[in-house]
Amino acid sequence: MTDPTLEAVYVKSINGTDDIIRDNKLKVTFIGRSNVGKSSLINSLVGKKLARSSSRPGKTVKLDFFLINHSLFFVDLPGYGFANRSKDALEHYRKLIAWYLFRSEVNHKLIVLIIDASIGITDYDRESINLLIEHGLDFVVVANKVDKLKMSQRDRALKAIQTECKDIPVVVYSSVTSEGKGALMNLVLKKK
Ligand code: GTP
Ligand code: MG
Repeated sequence: MTDPTLEAVYVKSINGTDDIIRDNKLKVTFIGRSNVGKSSLINSLVGKKLARSSSRPGKTVKLDFFLINHSLFFVDLPGYGFANRSKDALEHYRKLIAWYLFRSEVNHKLIVLIIDASIGITDYDRESINLLIEHGLDFVVVANKVDKLKMSQRDRALKAIQTECKDIPVVVYSSVTSEGKGALMNLVLKKK
């Protein structure tokens, strides 16, 4: 099966409340630690360089909205857990992310929580998972950067992630090889 082609257009970046939050179109939001590959994953799904990515953590600094097929939004978030940020900056991002996810009026379709498969689930990720469950949001976990795992490590690393995630769906992914693209595409485009 070939992947469906997505028409993707950058719309805007926001720092707080904005009309786009109340726009009724569903939002698929990509969250995770800084540098885990959120922006690259969006680019890999849409098949072009739309979201800005960087080898240095802290690249995405606002909530970036991309309109997909005229019908839903992909939303790229700043990362959490980036230790080199000042205390004030960390607090700013924590509040912005929590407001957007849990208190804004946004119409969530799905949250895609991205983790680094070569690092595994960190305490920051555990905290996010617990908050998403607490707030009853629909989410999936993406075990990203799987291309970095040697074959000998891969099974054990992925098994540990799936075991800890229990019933939460886990998609094994690589923006470098496109492994998992079809599976993730099905989840994000699934009729709701
Ligand atoms: P912030 O915006 O800082 O929160 O980062 P981010 O999560 O958006 O990460 P970004 O997409 O900017 O990628 C960070 C680095 O990881 C870049 O150097 C990417 O090239 C690299 N990267 C992203 N996805 C993959 C992947 O699947 N495999 C490998 N090997 N590297 C990846
Ligand atoms: Mg980013």
